[in-house]
Amino acid sequence: MLVTGGCGFIGSNFIRLLLAEEPEAELTNLDLLTYAGNPKNLEDLEGSSRYRFVHGDVRDETLVEELVREVDWIVNFAAETHVDRSTPAQAGEFVETNVQGPYVLADALRRAQRDARLLQVGTDEVYGSLSAPRRAREDALLEPSSPYSASKAGGDLVALGFHRMLGMDVLVSRSTNNYGPYQYPEKLLPLFITNAMQDEPLPLYDGGTQIRDWLWVDDHCRALLLLLREGEAGEIYNVGANQDPEITNGELTRMLLRLLGKPESLIRPVEGLRPGHDQRYAVDSSKLRALGWAPSIELEEGVQRTLDWYQKRRDWWEPIKSGAYRAYYRRHYGLEPKG
Ligand code: DAU
Repeated sequence: MLVTGGCGFIGSNFIRLLLAEEPEAELTNLDLLTYAGNPKNLEDLEGSSRYRFVHGDVRDETLVEELVREVDWIVNFAAETHVDRSTPAQAGEFVETNVQGPYVLADALRRAQRDARLLQVGTDEVYGSLSAPRRAREDALLEPSSPYSASKAGGDLVALGFHRMLGMDVLVSRSTNNYGPYQYPEKLLPLFITNAMQDEPLPLYDGGTQIRDWLWVDDHCRALLLLLREGEAGEIYNVGANQDPEITNGELTRMLLRLLGKPESLIRPVEGLRPGHDQRYAVDSSKLRALGWAPSIELEEGVQRTLDWYQKRRDWWEPIKSGAYRAYYRRHYGLEPKG
């Protein structure tokens, strides 16, 4: 099979799970190694005869056509993913990867006349902000609020177009916020965990009242594997933890500070860093659950496991935080990160 963007957070967790769960599988990982792709995420697989890394771009039509010739499954994780970086000035990068990528993959399958399954990994952000208690079903209106989510919505539709027009075996998943090991420390949880470990301020946006539906990354990866095995071509599947009760960013932040034994005075309220900040995401994931999927752990246990991992793996995140990340942090937050 072919996985794109497998050196990122969700991709690397998925590859490890896939190789364990599918003992016959042989897997190629195509990754451009942009800032959030890290070969260290998969260093335990170096030397495995079932795993091959190819350094390259999902938009490279010639390379992709070569790679799809013998595959049965493709999972597309390759994407620009960070909402804070998807400013109008950088929107082009999001469109190029997130829309062009699924197009190149689907079209390469068409040209190679390869009857493989393409799973486009999407996001719940395409539905936009929802008022409680509504949860978006797969047929909800698409109302993305940022260049990031708009480009992901475009990518989903391009991929599905190949199913509608040519009957190709394409499906789309749309997940809520993931957390767990190997997440790049620009996202809320790894940023706040590592900042708190360094007694640095936690920049909590816009009063911390926003709601996200936090999903343990391995549960997301198990959902993707299930969709590869049993999902229906042409369909979209929401993947959500459906936290009950829902939790705000502020509550989550206080939970992790409590688990780390750090004071709430580390929280630094900030405004204006995320224009058009979506208030609440929530999906109805009953279509996926009908296939037999359910999240395996509670949020507090998952956050504890995540904290344990970041505590053990300073060798993983300290070099990231002292590299090119510093310039981004300084520019975005106007603060100097500890190196
Ligand atoms: O919902 C799925 C999406 O989840 C994925 O499609 C995206 O790729 C992924 O980045 C994530 O998007 P969010 O924008 O929800 O994640 P992020 O970790 O950036 O922010 C989570 C919440 O925390 C959001 O309400 C903004 C807030 N936040 C974030 C950062 C980075 C802060 O309060 N302070 C921060 O410094």
